[in-house]
Amino acid sequence: MDSAVRSVAGSVPHAGPPPGSVPDTGSGSAVPVTLHGDVRVRLQPLTPADRGLYLAGFEHLSPESRLKRFLTPKPSLTEREIRYFTEVDHHDHEAIAASIGGEGIGVARYIRDAHDAGIADVAVAVVDGWQRRGMGTALLRRLAERAREEGVSRFRATMQWANRPMFATIRRLQAPWRTVSTSGGVVEVEIRLLREPVEWTAPAAARFEAGIAG
Ligand SMILES: CC(C)(COP(=O)(O)OP(=O)(O)OC[C@H]1O[C@@H](n2cnc3c(N)ncnc32)[C@H](O)[C@@H]1OP(=O)(O)O)[C@@H](O)C(=O)NCCC(=O)NCCS
Repeated sequence: MDSAVRSVAGSVPHAGPPPGSVPDTGSGSAVPVTLHGDVRVRLQPLTPADRGLYLAGFEHLSPESRLKRFLTPKPSLTEREIRYFTEVDHHDHEAIAASIGGEGIGVARYIRDAHDAGIADVAVAVVDGWQRRGMGTALLRRLAERAREEGVSRFRATMQWANRPMFATIRRLQAPWRTVSTSGGVVEVEIRLLREPVEWTAPAAARFEAGIAG
């Protein structure tokens, strides 16, 4: 397994938070967003109480979407994974859930790098029936806001090289991004989280690639 695959957000590490150390409520409040078609959806930090919502959402992810999200076939989740994904500390690990009428329809999460506090692995998943309505974009934007509040300045996304929807979702963040590595059909990109969206032009990309701040 190459390093890009190892760093996909949600590869459950050997040591999780000790039981009882996870707060029950998220630090961010619920935010309403309007999707294409004037549909109002609620975004809020995932808590252990949302376990049912999270599992129902997982059931509505197709095998293809699960493969794109986890980069490995994922017919089911283990109890350890469920706890890891739903019992987050909202600082080093944040998860924003989208719901409508109590139905879980998407999750975006970041997990801070253990060695570099400024960078975090990011992943987004929207249930198949809700894709292409602006949900992924809204989730990633909200997650980026939460990340900046917690001192994360860069996201690292590891995904299939051919995952056009995720590339488009990243572009819609209007933030500088660059390819860090490609291997075996998997690409790792790094996204710089800015306070304000920027017009991402070729010269700006070249400056970012060259490591020039701005
Ligand atoms: C990637 C994903 C989160 C995008 O969510 P979404 O709610 O469909 O995204 P949005 O509706 O906000 O669309 C964002 C952009 O992606 C484009 N897009 C969405 N689905 C697409 C598709 N199937 N084919 C081509 N473009 C697509 C949209 O047109 C939009 O681009 P635009 O601004 O050029 O119009 C969703 O496709 C998904 O959950 N995929 C499976 C899991 C996954 O791949 N996760 C990423 C790994 S980290």
